[in-house]
Amino acid sequence: MSARITSFEQYQADYKRSVENPEDFWADIAENFTWKRTWDKVLDWNFTEPNIKWFLGGKLNISENCLDRHLQDKGNQTAVIWEPNNPDEKGRTLTYNELYEEVCKFSNVLKKQGVKKGDRVCIYMPMVPEAAVAMLACARIGAVHSVVFAGFSVQSISDRINDSSCEVVVTSDGLFRGTKTVELKKIVDEALVTCPCVRKVIVLQRTGTSIEMKQGRDVYWSDDMQAVSGDCAAEEMDSEDMLYILYTSGSTGKPKGVVHTTAGYMVYTWYSFLNVFQYNEGDVYWCTADIGWVTGHSYTVYAPLLAGATILMFEGIPVHPDAGRFWQVIDKHKVNIFYTAPTAIRSLMAAGLDYVKPYKLDSLRVLGTVGEPINEEAWVWYNEYIGKKKCPIVDTWWQTETGGILISPLAGITETKPSYATLPLPGVQPAIMDSSGKEMPGNDVEGNLCIKFPWPSIIRTTYGDHERCRQTYFDSYPGKYFTGDGCRRDADGYYRIIGRVDDVLKVSGHRLGTADIEDAINHTEGVVESAVVGYPHPIKGEAIYAFVIYSDTEHDFSKLKQDIIHNVNNLIGPIAKPDKIQFVKGLPKTRSGKIMRRILRKIAEGDAGNLGDTTTLIDPTVVEDIRQGAEVNQE
Ligand code: WT7
Repeated sequence: MSARITSFEQYQADYKRSVENPEDFWADIAENFTWKRTWDKVLDWNFTEPNIKWFLGGKLNISENCLDRHLQDKGNQTAVIWEPNNPDEKGRTLTYNELYEEVCKFSNVLKKQGVKKGDRVCIYMPMVPEAAVAMLACARIGAVHSVVFAGFSVQSISDRINDSSCEVVVTSDGLFRGTKTVELKKIVDEALVTCPCVRKVIVLQRTGTSIEMKQGRDVYWSDDMQAVSGDCAAEEMDSEDMLYILYTSGSTGKPKGVVHTTAGYMVYTWYSFLNVFQYNEGDVYWCTADIGWVTGHSYTVYAPLLAGATILMFEGIPVHPDAGRFWQVIDKHKVNIFYTAPTAIRSLMAAGLDYVKPYKLDSLRVLGTVGEPINEEAWVWYNEYIGKKKCPIVDTWWQTETGGILISPLAGITETKPSYATLPLPGVQPAIMDSSGKEMPGNDVEGNLCIKFPWPSIIRTTYGDHERCRQTYFDSYPGKYFTGDGCRRDADGYYRIIGRVDDVLKVSGHRLGTADIEDAINHTEGVVESAVVGYPHPIKGEAIYAFVIYSDTEHDFSKLKQDIIHNVNNLIGPIAKPDKIQFVKGLPKTRSGKIMRRILRKIAEGDAGNLGDTTTLIDPTVVEDIRQGAEVNQE
């Protein structure tokens, strides 16, 4: 069976088969890979424990499937095009042969530093080819990578390192992002003060910033790479051996380590990549996502390399040196498939067409978006001015936990509708639930989105705390995976994702838990308590509004504000910085002590005229105080 869907009729037929006979369906797809041993059984699952296993008994290595498999036909084809932050700096390219050699060498470096199969390695790196090399090298020797976005701060890194007891950290002296230089090594040094589990730090030199190297612990990437061989046999991994951990925020508690395993993740990310983007041999493919997020894992690194594509890795940001940077890079490298976030599109749209006009953009064939709902205006602009109405737009819905795209058009095959993720991929069985917990069959329904059957790249567990995985995703609707999103299925059966129904925000596409931000704010001296909600923002999608109760003695509000922002920066990172802070005397709480966020959201949205029922509050007068304060705050 060909894995590639080429018509809508085939999509329908494949979808039907994937539901009626999922095991045969996925076995046929999995045949496309190199296995050291084929599986005994395709699927074993229940959503109660949960316990989900794909391709049981299979043995393989994903790095071998990303690299070795292509060497014979594509050894000299470009695997990675690297475009630096500064357009005047010379970029780099690596062929599949070269990428293979780098990965083998770094695998040997990791081994030399004592890393063994199953050990955890933290990767805290800029968007440079070495970041992908480090990920693939971990996979090659069977180590589990835990990539931490290089915008997270000291506390976030040390929490993540300790949660999965990483023994080695791979980082760089610093990174360039727009006009800023961030001193990554310095941040790591601070984080490691509270991480006794870390033995070794491998440091790539990128910015030339002066750094301190701790004797016995820190080694330079370049020194180590010189001393090792360019061959490294790929470790034999079981289908269900852990491939990576990626931390993500939820509505409560500390970020949790989402665990993905080897075979199912490989099969599903590749299959979805091929079909959603309708990838053709020779295409230059650019996903702008940083490797610190799941999109960077699945669709910047793993899936396109599994497909033997030429990937572009971009170190910079969309607006540096100006808002034409993306379009300039597309022309320069003749990008065919471009995948980015709605927030980037909205910010470039706001910058104006003068930044688009100088560029041809005629290499583009497919456009994609991910991470948050795309509003119709941004969709239309993307379609008209970037795709010149010739490029299908794929609005891809998925999550860190799903590993790959679940609901999306197939480029040029599925008829699109602005702001709709359209239809589920083969293997994906969505269910929309009503408020009493029953599935609503049929069309023209709206409710909470669940998935009722496993797909190969579904989350297996949350690292070190399986019960948390069960409670978060499999408890709300017994027998189903709960996504945390609200969703509408329209009269045509098309899916439109409405947004989170829990206390999770999507700020510029970044996923943040309100509880994490509140924790950081509450660490500030002079703060008694706080409540954080999101409100609509024209560019970021959602922005952060913090209501803060201060202690009686604290009256220098501008200092208190600065302290709060400082703490959020330090404890989480600048991406979680509140856009608005309002000091209040009380928060609207019910008799059981629960904060009524619904009311705060209304006030934050500027819709305080219509607060609904407030009679269950202990003290309804606090609402009036907050409302009046908010009006002042808006000015
Ligand atoms: C949440 C997951 C998917 C990889 C990057 C984000 C929102 C994601 C869409 C979309 C509307 C979307 C959902 C989801 N989301 N894609 N196309 N349309 N909303 O992964 O950080 O785990 O966030 O992002 O709310 O639950 P993530």
